[in-house]
Amino acid sequence: MNEGMMELHSPRLGLTDVLAANILLVDDEPANIKLLGRTLGTFGYQNIIATTDPRTVLDLFHQHPFDLIILDLNMPHLDGFEVMRQLQALGRDDLPPILILTAQHDQEHRVRALRGGAHDYVTKPFAVDELLARVRNLLQVQLYHKSMRGRNQWLEERVQERTRELYDTRLQIVRRLGRAAEFRDNETGLHVLRMSKMSVALGEACGMSSEECELLLNASPMHDIGKIGIPDQILLKPGKFEPQEWEIMKTHASIGADILSGDDSELLSMARVIALNHHEKWDGSGYPNGLAAEDIPLPGRVVALADVFDALTSVRPYKKAWSVDTAMEYVVANRGKHFDPRLVDLFRARLPDILEIKDTFAEPGDPDGFNLSLD
Ligand SMILES: [Fe+2]
Ligand SMILES: [Fe+2]
Repeated sequence: MNEGMMELHSPRLGLTDVLAANILLVDDEPANIKLLGRTLGTFGYQNIIATTDPRTVLDLFHQHPFDLIILDLNMPHLDGFEVMRQLQALGRDDLPPILILTAQHDQEHRVRALRGGAHDYVTKPFAVDELLARVRNLLQVQLYHKSMRGRNQWLEERVQERTRELYDTRLQIVRRLGRAAEFRDNETGLHVLRMSKMSVALGEACGMSSEECELLLNASPMHDIGKIGIPDQILLKPGKFEPQEWEIMKTHASIGADILSGDDSELLSMARVIALNHHEKWDGSGYPNGLAAEDIPLPGRVVALADVFDALTSVRPYKKAWSVDTAMEYVVANRGKHFDPRLVDLFRARLPDILEIKDTFAEPGDPDGFNLSLD
């Protein structure tokens, strides 16, 4: 925390602050303005602006952050009540207090003015001591409120800053976890980058908010983190898996969820949901829980499609890259089987964006390899 900033917003206010306050005088009589201005100036007030035309008050208010307005009631064009009404119509919470200074002595005017937004009411001819005391009181309260507003805003900014720092720290941890996993996996960092961006394109298409899409972007790279827990001889095996090896391989989804559990932040919660559900299938034939249709959380369904599409169109040690057309045929053929049918439709509609991501983050080198194994 910055001590200097704290001092700046301290609610301790002295006479110097009060005398430096900005005051607006509004009276159609130049002689009244002159007398009042001179009186305030004599007692040390330095920042006084005056107008004899009440129609200029709004403009002046927009130009100067006044701390007090001393306002006459009976004026041509616009009376004091109307000036107060215009100011209040601005709907701002930082309006300065208004001190009515008028020749109207009767109670009716007094009450009407106080109800209309005036904070205090002094009648002409005024006693200098009384006016100065009232001006000072109003300014002290106003400056105190102003300083509290500044302090609250400062605190709010600090809270936002800390929240951002916390999010960034979590993001760093999650990214480093992802890099650790890459050391053990034959899937490249570019695959993770492409599939996370494709997931976001699909997330946007199905109406996720920008916050959800940012979470998706940062959480989806963790989908295969559980592969850390799979023995090398299985994880790095070039050919097809034996049935028992396949069973072990499938545990990467729940291992990933375990690794990412125990933190209730939105980022890690979504990362956990994705790790657990990215191999579930719409028809219920996926793993680890055999969930079907909308029982599979949406981020899991989104990532499943982006992950498979990118894997199909990428070269792997056990397969060559499929063409986009062949991969799309596979995706469409699995509409309502492996994949959420609505997401398949949206994916097709967003294909130009998906292909742009694929090209922008393409692997270096020529894709070539072995035959396809979709398991
Ligand atoms: Fe996986
Ligand atoms: Fe993947």
